[in-house]
Order: sequence, then C-alpha cells, then structure tokens
Amino acid sequence: MKISIIGTGKVGSVLGRRLAACGHRVCFASREPAGQRVRDLVAEQPMRCWADSVAASIPDAEVLIYAAPYDQAERILSAVDDFHGLVLIDCTNPLNATFDGLQLGHTSSAGERIAEWAPTARVVKAFNTTSVATMTEPRYGEQAATQFYCGDDTDAKRTVAELISQLGMEPVDAGPLRNARYLEATAMLYIHLAVREGWGGDCALKMLRR
Ligand SMILES: NC(=O)c1ccc[n+]([C@@H]2O[C@H](COP(=O)([O-])OP(=O)(O)OC[C@H]3O[C@@H](n4cnc5c(N)ncnc54)[C@H](OP(=O)(O)O)[C@@H]3O)[C@@H](O)[C@H]2O)c1
Repeated sequence: MKISIIGTGKVGSVLGRRLAACGHRVCFASREPAGQRVRDLVAEQPMRCWADSVAASIPDAEVLIYAAPYDQAERILSAVDDFHGLVLIDCTNPLNATFDGLQLGHTSSAGERIAEWAPTARVVKAFNTTSVATMTEPRYGEQAATQFYCGDDTDAKRTVAELISQLGMEPVDAGPLRNARYLEATAMLYIHLAVREGWGGDCALKMLRR
C-alpha cells in the first residue's frame, strides 16, 4: 500500500518508519522534503521511503496520515484540490495554547473539522490516544496497547484497523467520526496522566473484556 504522511515530527516519523518496516511504501510529505532531517529519515529504509511536498504526495496515495499540528490542518488540507477518496487518518489533538485543555469538544472535534476541510477524503480518527513511545513499541508484557479509531466509512475503518494490527496494537472500533469528540477528550486525560501526573509516555490505554 502507498501511504503518505504529512508531518515528519515525532508521530509522523515513527509511524512512517514502522509502516515501511511492515512492507508499505511510505512518502513523507514535508515542508522541507530535501532537508537533512528528512533525508536521514528516508535513508533508514531507502527502498520503501521517499519524501515529497504535500501536493505531490497525494495523487496516488491510498492512505494519508495527517501527523502535523491541528492548528495547521485547515491551511494544509484546504489547499488540496481532490483527495480522490483516499483514507485520511487524523492523528491530531486540538490542544489549547497551554496544553492543559482542548480548543473544542462536546459539539465538534478536530476529526469532524478535518473531514470538512478534506471533503473528498474518508476520514478516520486514530493514533491520537497513544504516546510515541507506545507507537514505537506497543507491547506491554503479554498485552498489546489498545488503539481506538472512529469514522463514518466502513471500508476506510477496515483499512485503518488492518494497519493498526500490523503495527502490533489492538484495534478497537469506537464508532462514527463524531465520537472523535470522546477520543480527543480521552487523549487529554492521557496527556494529563503522562505529563502532569508523572506516568510518562511508557503507559497505554487498554480495553479489557471478560
Ligand atoms: N507527540 C505525541 O505523543 C502525539 C501522540 C498522539 C497524537 N499526536 C498528534 O500528532 C500530531 C503530530 O504531533 P508530533 O508530536 O509528531 O508533532 P511534532 O513533532 O511537532 O511534528 C509535527 C510535524 O508537522 C509538520 N508541520 C507542518 N506544518 C507545521 C507547522 N506550521 N509547524 C510545525 N510543524 C508543522 C512538521 O513536519 P515537516 O517539517 O516535515 O513539514 C513537523 O515535524 C499533532 O497533531 C499531535 O497533537 C501527538
């Protein structure tokens, strides 16, 4: 599968690195595709990875991961003419300026806003409730970290669930895209625990069943 990733920061680089290791072809869509940092990232798996501009990365992509700041999403995504129905995975959390709350919730979510800015894409919210440390190594002893996802397109959600499984996490369908409101609030709780209560990034959410 060809997967493009907008943003080569902490989330984009880890997901790209790991998805390429799973055998996918990964295009890093960067503001500076020829910059040294991005070249070093590509050089880790040069047979499967390359870098390009956002515009050039989209036409033949089957999946596009948005792993840039929420505040940049309207500008970046609205500039794209046509997403051709690709699966757009929204990883964002719409944090406020002091990182201790969300800019929106209850009546909308970053996931729903992103779907408005990318109307020709099939948006699935995922990877927003998980730390980079867990994306890198999702196993906790015998258990795999839970990765929640939500969206309105059944086939798109199936694709994302498969990618989550390939990455070694447990996919849990969290319902329609409007439930991004709850996944983003869940991420806020996680961030509070990790950053302010001292849990750090080496902890993960897990759904248990009996
Ligand atoms: N860090 C986490 O633990 C975590 C976990 C779950 C979800 N998230 C979410 O995932 C997204 C990415 O987080 P991150 O931690 O990977 O962020 P980051 O390390 O700051 O990377 C963000 C990347 O976005 C790209 N970008 C495009 N326009 C930008 C702009 N105007 N300013 C800054 N960066 C810009 C940059 O890539 P180029 O330079 O290549 O363009 C940058 O490296 C965020 O929405 C965040 O809320 C983060």
